[in-house]
Amino acid sequence: MSENRPILTTRQGHPVRDNQSTRTVGERGPATLENYQFIEKITHFDRERIPERVVHARGAGAHGWFEAYGKIGDEPASKYTRARVLNETGVKTPMFVRFSTVAGAKESPETERDPRGFAVKFKTVEGNWDLVGNNLKVFFIRDAIKFPDMIHAFKPDPVTNRQEAWRFFDFVAQHPEAIHMVTWLKSPWGIPANYREMEGSGVNTYKLVNDKGEAVLCKFHWQPKQGVRNLTSAQASEIQAKDVGHATRDLYDNISAGNFPEWEFCVQIMPDGPNDHLSFDPLDDTKRWPEDQFPLLPVGRMVLDRVPDNFFAEVEQSAFGTGVLVDGIDFSDDKMLQGRTLSYSDTQRYRVGANYLQLPINAPQPGVKVYSNQRDGQMTYGVDGTGQNRHINYEPSTLGEGLAEAPKKTEYHQPVEGRLGRYQTSRTEDDYAQAGHRYRTFEDWEREDLIANLVADMKQCPEPIQLRMVWHFWHADEDYGRRVAEGAGIDLEKAKALPPLPGRAAPHKRLQAETYTEGGNAPQKVAAE
Ligand code: HEM
Repeated sequence: MSENRPILTTRQGHPVRDNQSTRTVGERGPATLENYQFIEKITHFDRERIPERVVHARGAGAHGWFEAYGKIGDEPASKYTRARVLNETGVKTPMFVRFSTVAGAKESPETERDPRGFAVKFKTVEGNWDLVGNNLKVFFIRDAIKFPDMIHAFKPDPVTNRQEAWRFFDFVAQHPEAIHMVTWLKSPWGIPANYREMEGSGVNTYKLVNDKGEAVLCKFHWQPKQGVRNLTSAQASEIQAKDVGHATRDLYDNISAGNFPEWEFCVQIMPDGPNDHLSFDPLDDTKRWPEDQFPLLPVGRMVLDRVPDNFFAEVEQSAFGTGVLVDGIDFSDDKMLQGRTLSYSDTQRYRVGANYLQLPINAPQPGVKVYSNQRDGQMTYGVDGTGQNRHINYEPSTLGEGLAEAPKKTEYHQPVEGRLGRYQTSRTEDDYAQAGHRYRTFEDWEREDLIANLVADMKQCPEPIQLRMVWHFWHADEDYGRRVAEGAGIDLEKAKALPPLPGRAAPHKRLQAETYTEGGNAPQKVAAE
């Protein structure tokens, strides 16, 4: 044993001379109330947990860095964006990444069939930029107002506390736009082998803005240099029987062994505007931007090279939000993105506390000094930088002291026109073409696994849900609907005879015959090469 071990103290700095025994009156007498050391220890322990994230509760994190190529495809990055993090080469921007599953609780198995969260914090010289994404490039819904209902259906039943397939499909059956995501999720792509061998995507549509104040629409993607590897349900069950934290273990083991995972950061871009010529709405996050029309343009790379020193301080208390953008990256009118942007910082003020941005894991890099007039609140750790006159914690000041506004830049001014209202549909008329295309372009083993998983799920659903789900699958691809119906013993003709959902247009059968093209499973092919 080392003689030089640090001495145990209380949080008040008092040395602890006996950490083994409670103070009592005599050897067998009662404990006394003035035992400050004991009371501090136990009462702090009583408060060790904070609420788990309402979604994405199970996660693992790692530190690393990002390096820009200074280009977007063949063009200088400055043509599209003035964000320094994407323009300046030779700079290693520090990063923190948290991977997660969505519906499971904090200690739930990492083998679950679920999208994987891929949340990234760039600590840039211009302040933080968070990109809060998933592994799959699309989502179930396209309007944020539906998110709480969707999560209620996906999380455990309020009576039995069990996740139920029928509750999941009861919600999905009312949302044709979810069929594309469900087709990915119920295939092996719904269980990535680990966090290293999976893609990431911002999913929602953003804008890049250049020095002239011109904007393009864009999507962000992470392509793993390790390739993509997914599991069948049977493979996942085998791992889960032995290890419920296999993905965290894989991440930590590889980083600790110096086998640093790396992703290429890519963007897809298209002109801002209505883009009426497209068969899908680029602001609809249930659709992919076909990669043959909108190629993935490399902009930089990310390497993860350090595991956290402490899980709670760095991973549990980390807080990512879609509102955290740097100059040169902007919001689009993607309704999901706008709804999400309210939700993240709101939940973090509740989950971590009003001053969550003062924690080292969430604060900007040390080179970026925070000067703000935000003050006080629980757990205030420091006072943000002020001007010379520390009495002036407001702005503007007649005395010309205190903090000053930053110099103006050429703003991007988006023209907006329309009638205020609640619009149920997106401009995308067809919610089945991309799902059907996905079904047809899966490899055989992926399609087999997809059908087997859906058949098992359908068997747990009551008939009205079964019929409506088969109706959706059949509209995506006739073979898809037929195979699910046959496997689960569902009457295909009865399903086909259903009327369209109330308030939804009849599906466009003609689109199924059209050749719809998309980039395909490009990363998986990279892995196989
Ligand atoms: C309107 C829709 C959505 C809402 C309201 C919403 C809300 C939330 C909330 C409240 C959290 C917990 C945050 C925390 O406690 O720190 C969260 C976490 C997360 N969400 Fe969403 N979400 C939505 C859609 C999405 C979508 C489309 C994606 C993927 C692109 C996504 C990816 C994530 C990720 C990765 C996390 C975990 C972040 C972390 O690791 O700390 N969410 N979301």
